[in-house]
Amino acid sequence: MISLEVVLSPALLHLTDVKGSNVVVIDILRATSTICTAIHEGAESVRAVMSPAEALALKAEGYVTAAERDGAKLEGFDMGNSPFECMNGAVKGKRIALTTTNGTKCIEAVAHAGARNVLSGSFLNLEVLSEWLIADNQRVVMLCAGWKDSVNLEDTLFAGALGSLIVQKTACFVDCDAALMSMDLYACAKDNLTEYLKKSSHYIRLSHLHHEEDMRYCLQHSVIQEITGLLDGEMKKM
Ligand code: MLT
Repeated sequence: MISLEVVLSPALLHLTDVKGSNVVVIDILRATSTICTAIHEGAESVRAVMSPAEALALKAEGYVTAAERDGAKLEGFDMGNSPFECMNGAVKGKRIALTTTNGTKCIEAVAHAGARNVLSGSFLNLEVLSEWLIADNQRVVMLCAGWKDSVNLEDTLFAGALGSLIVQKTACFVDCDAALMSMDLYACAKDNLTEYLKKSSHYIRLSHLHHEEDMRYCLQHSVIQEITGLLDGEMKKM
């Protein structure tokens, strides 16, 4: 039977042994939404790296370099962390080296922890991801990237959305208050997610940077049909 757990912040990850589980890394605004979009748009891979220097060093190997800190694109990189930068053929066939404030650090944090799979979770591929996890029928750990180790609303809401969908579709074991809390939170907010999130810290931060369109895009449900996961150290189409 599938079981569900939610880790609300990377600061709590040490309390959970992810060995053998399907880990869904969640950074809705915007890293995992952008990663899912890049793969949907034909990118060969997205390599999550810890620092801007690591990303820049990969340019010599032909990678497109992408870097964001505090919501803003870093100078000297080909891209920031907007899903719109992955569209119109911009990344087709390309390998991307991506570093972001929180999301890529989360991928790194579980990349070598013995997980069965490390998957990129987004509202964009919510439905197909729920089906994939149900079909694989293994323990699911949803890791929220949050903001600099603080819990955030958007990642918690996605964990609730994914958990609720899985619970609706199949018998599963939920012995995790964080999972129960995230599902209840999603039940409160789901009818108007964007409106609900307008009070959140990162929505406000990204609005000040004029990224409202990015957020509207990232909050769409089930518009991408690809599953993106870690293969040979890079996020690729599964
Ligand atoms: C993150 O890593 O926290 C986000 O991706 C930041 C952003 O893109 O705004």
